[in-house]
Amino acid sequence: MLMGFSTGPPIKRTGATVDGGVNCAACHRTFAPANSDPTGSVRITADNYTPGVKQTIKVTVTHPAAARWGFQLTARTVSDESKPAGTFAANDVVKVMCDNGSNLGVAAPCDAAQLQFAEHLSAPRGNAGDGFTFTVDWTPPATDLGDVIFYAAGNAADGGGTSANDRIYTTSRRISPPCTLSAKPSIKGMANGASFLPAWNVGSMVTLFGGNFGPVGKTRTATSADYVSQRFPQSLACVAVTVNGLNAPITYVQPDQINFQAPALSGVGSASVVVIANPGAPNELRSDPIMVTGQQAYAPAFFTFNGKSVAATSADGASYIVAAAIVPKGVPAKPGDIVVVYASGLGATNPAVGPGEIATAVTPVTGAVSVSVGGISVPPADITYAGLSPQSISGLYQINVKLPALVADGDASISVSVGGVQSATGTTIPIKK
Ligand code: HEC
Repeated sequence: MLMGFSTGPPIKRTGATVDGGVNCAACHRTFAPANSDPTGSVRITADNYTPGVKQTIKVTVTHPAAARWGFQLTARTVSDESKPAGTFAANDVVKVMCDNGSNLGVAAPCDAAQLQFAEHLSAPRGNAGDGFTFTVDWTPPATDLGDVIFYAAGNAADGGGTSANDRIYTTSRRISPPCTLSAKPSIKGMANGASFLPAWNVGSMVTLFGGNFGPVGKTRTATSADYVSQRFPQSLACVAVTVNGLNAPITYVQPDQINFQAPALSGVGSASVVVIANPGAPNELRSDPIMVTGQQAYAPAFFTFNGKSVAATSADGASYIVAAAIVPKGVPAKPGDIVVVYASGLGATNPAVGPGEIATAVTPVTGAVSVSVGGISVPPADITYAGLSPQSISGLYQINVKLPALVADGDASISVSVGGVQSATGTTIPIKK
């Protein structure tokens, strides 16, 4: 029997892991899994919240060939994603279902403890290519429950009235209550985020050291739920960083360290860095600026597992190339193997991908790259790729390199040079025939 869902989709189909990780593609299978067609998307637009103050959440579904649209949206507390956060309101195109333990849920109003799902009322039709934005009023929790995360699934459907030929997308978006950091941040210094040496360049990953960057013991790593307009956020855990006044995309914050990507400064030389707590709010607190030197046109540096052994995987990504004593299950590489090594600071790419943006395709560097392993220069033909690492922040580069057949067993030195600038010595890769 073909079951009809003119009643709407089952609840818990946003892809949220806490709900079992399932989404609409369980039935809308033609292009499964979700997100497999990169020409479409679903996006959640939501601002940081003030407890009890209603805001409009937007869920936008796009695909150039779709003619009918559907979605499902849920809000959870980050501290416990099995708990609801706030209340959705139904409207002309949106209904709200409560989790009463049944497959489809029951129409709102929901009990305070019930999970809520906003979803399409009767899937609207629209011109192919236009996309569709569902708007949902959401009243956040009346008290500060910490960060809230939204999960959404979107269906860019063909309008055929069946579950076939529809594209399913999933996404998430994390928002925060007002920032309450109370101490003025201070900066001690800045270093290359890969080598921890002074050299850095536009687009390289860098690390700031200092104090009062956040509450003791709290760490925060940016994820795709923090992306704003498909970019890494310019404030994370209530701190922002500016370099010569330009906001930097931030990837990680702990009380005495911030990792970020150097923004698109013009010129080289020294630059002024400021950390801002509670950015943009009345309680904003700015550190004293520090002047950092070390900016170069290129600043090639390897990421490492332990300060020495280069961050490397096998060509298929299945194993780490490192001593098992450093990373469990790590293995050495054989001479002649193709390995992938990770680096920062390799400079401009084609196409250009700006700071904070995510590389989605093959994006080679424009500068001339050479690699040497165990003192042997790798022939250019054996560097099969030097460019941005796909689906990562644009500060992360990878080099796919065929190791020289004659490299000796042991920890072989490895270096990279780009645009005539050489990485620091002292980085190695383990080799065993
Ligand atoms: C249990 C299976 C099942 C799941 C899960 C499911 N659907 Fe469907 N969906 C169907 C079926 C069957 C139809 C066709 C009959 C109907 O419209 O009720 C359909 C139809 C649709 C349509 C109209 C398609 C068209 O081309 O006209 C949209 C839009 C839609 N679903 C959205 C969603 C969304 C969004 C989700 C996830 C949140 C979802 N569905 C999850 C079974 C499912």
